Amino acid sequence: MYKRVPGTRDLLPDEVYLWQRLEQLSRNIFSIYNYKEIRTPLIEDISLFNRSLGESTEIVQKQMFLIKNKEDTYALRPEGTASIVRSYIENSLDKSTGFIKLYYLGPMFRLERPQKGRLRQFHHIGCEAIGSRSPEMDIEVIALADSLLKAYSIEGYKIKINSLGCDKDKQKLAALLRKGLEDKVDSLCPDCQARFKRNVLRVLDCKNEACRQVANSLDIRQSYLCGDCLTHFSRVRQGLDLLDIAYEVSPFLVRGLDYYTRTVFEIIHGDLGAQDAIGAGGRYDNLVNELGGPELGAMGFAFGVERLLLTAHPAPAKKQPAIVYLISLGEESKLISLKIMSDLRRAGIACDTDYENRSLKAAMRKANDNQAGYVLIIGEDEIKKGVVTLKDMGSGEQKEVSRDDLIKELQLKT
Ligand code: HAM
Repeated sequence: MYKRVPGTRDLLPDEVYLWQRLEQLSRNIFSIYNYKEIRTPLIEDISLFNRSLGESTEIVQKQMFLIKNKEDTYALRPEGTASIVRSYIENSLDKSTGFIKLYYLGPMFRLERPQKGRLRQFHHIGCEAIGSRSPEMDIEVIALADSLLKAYSIEGYKIKINSLGCDKDKQKLAALLRKGLEDKVDSLCPDCQARFKRNVLRVLDCKNEACRQVANSLDIRQSYLCGDCLTHFSRVRQGLDLLDIAYEVSPFLVRGLDYYTRTVFEIIHGDLGAQDAIGAGGRYDNLVNELGGPELGAMGFAFGVERLLLTAHPAPAKKQPAIVYLISLGEESKLISLKIMSDLRRAGIACDTDYENRSLKAAMRKANDNQAGYVLIIGEDEIKKGVVTLKDMGSGEQKEVSRDDLIKELQLKT
């Protein structure tokens, strides 16, 4: 028997319904905030991610799915931000539209060790607002994330925010960390010892307990922020307070990707265990320029859909449109059923039939399994009279309806 690749999942119809519901709710909220959908390819040139996410990040170092041919190396996208910025520049959206608010839904790929909430193919629902450096943009993006979680009926999450400051501030932060960690390097895990040399900020992302303890013992707060970045950060907090969005300032939140500047945030949920982030994002004011575009500020976030669904309490109600189920008794009635179904579908009425030659009783059971609202029975008698027997599955009532009146009758009911 063939098995799916570890860290991937099959979404069977019952579960797909929950996904569709989440997607529907998301599209609705995004459009209320005036974000437009963008779809970019699943594969990109590897250099795009090396450059944007940072050579020393966990994703670039260990987690990229690569596709190599003679000349090129492509990567399955591990996230959406880099691709969207690439697309923004390549399609000259800076010239045609300028400031733009985009959202996206789709699969991402990271070669990780699979565990609860950590997959190799997972899905993002996210957004990117490109072309603004205003703190009000940060406030809107965080408020949007909060609105989405409320729309999904997810409770018990916590929003953590921090500011990394501008490039200079990030360098100051790195110097502070290097100084603070200097005499503690031996207590760090081997990966962090390498990070200490290459990109010390990444030590703060490490999940290793010993490294966490060392990081938590440092006193860094926001001392590295310049005046402008401090003002920006306090404006963001002021806005979140005004909108009654609960958050916590977390000085150790640096995010695992190099493109971030100024505001970063992460949303965690207690139900998730070790992989507790349901979503995260932040500002990336240098990325558009670094990838060859103009100097434009940008801000966004992404939720992990699988993790959202692990925390959705209560799960979205399971409700599918009730279908009409046709049961034909005898060969002649099968063709008549096909014609009736074709007419019903043209009139927008969802319907289906039994294709397995079941007995009336077994076909009725199948209608029940399909959560049919109505059953139409077509046998020899009905054919002679030019009618069908219509059974209301809710009330159990049954009556004959002329075939000419059937659509009208069902339109009144469904
Ligand atoms: P990220 O923190 O790498 O950020 O991913 C965002 C979310 O995706 C995480 O909080 C988590 O819920 C989910 N996630 C990440 N990896 C996995 C995995 N292996 N399995 C299941 N879920 C996962 C980004 O990707 C940024 N592009 C977000 C962003 C948008 N920043 C600015 N704009």
